[in-house]
Amino acid sequence: MNEILQVIKERRSIRVFKDEQIKDEELNEVLQAGLYAPSAMNQQSWHFTVIQNDTVLENFTQTAKDTYAKSGNDQLKGMSNNYKYKVFYNAPTAILISGDINAANPQADCAAAAENILLAAETLGLGACWIGSMPYIFGNGSNEALKKELEIPDGYNPIYSIALGYAASENAHAPVLKANKINIIK
Ligand SMILES: Cc1cc2nc3c(=O)[nH]c(=O)nc-3n(C[C@H](O)[C@H](O)[C@H](O)COP(=O)(O)O)c2cc1C
Repeated sequence: MNEILQVIKERRSIRVFKDEQIKDEELNEVLQAGLYAPSAMNQQSWHFTVIQNDTVLENFTQTAKDTYAKSGNDQLKGMSNNYKYKVFYNAPTAILISGDINAANPQADCAAAAENILLAAETLGLGACWIGSMPYIFGNGSNEALKKELEIPDGYNPIYSIALGYAASENAHAPVLKANKINIIK
């Protein structure tokens, strides 16, 4: 099978990681893949923040838990009380994908970059998982101090993130695909 099609089909979310950090060359390849994503009007409205510092990752989870605890959402409150909960599943690398809030379609641009990153990770033999909780942490102007600490540029907000590392679990089988998702009119 064509290698790209095989990578697309075999990629699975990985949520268990080895402690070992990934190589800088691997990180660079993954980030480059993100930069080559398509974007509305070629605005390239993303910005990537890579966190590879254990203390910063730990503080990130603590800030998320504090924010969840104050939310009116029971599921988030449950996560804030779960001592095992880590935003990035103990992955040694996290990539925050922030979008330019004034761009035409930062959500779509950042999603395209996220998928490129996941596929690059898969082809390099890395494990990765898309983490969608950024709006719960940074929505409504929350946690500006953390954004500053992470040097996220003014006018950008974290939209998605990726947990990245060497997988400590096998790729699962592909999820059952829902029926009736394609219609071809000739
Ligand atoms: C927008 C988006 C947000 C996601 N957020 C999370 C998340 O916060 N935590 C998580 O474990 N997986 C998250 N995922 C991964 C999905 O759960 C996963 O892709 C889906 O279950 C299919 O499994 P697969 O990736 O192994 O094919 C997210 C995926 C997308 C596209």
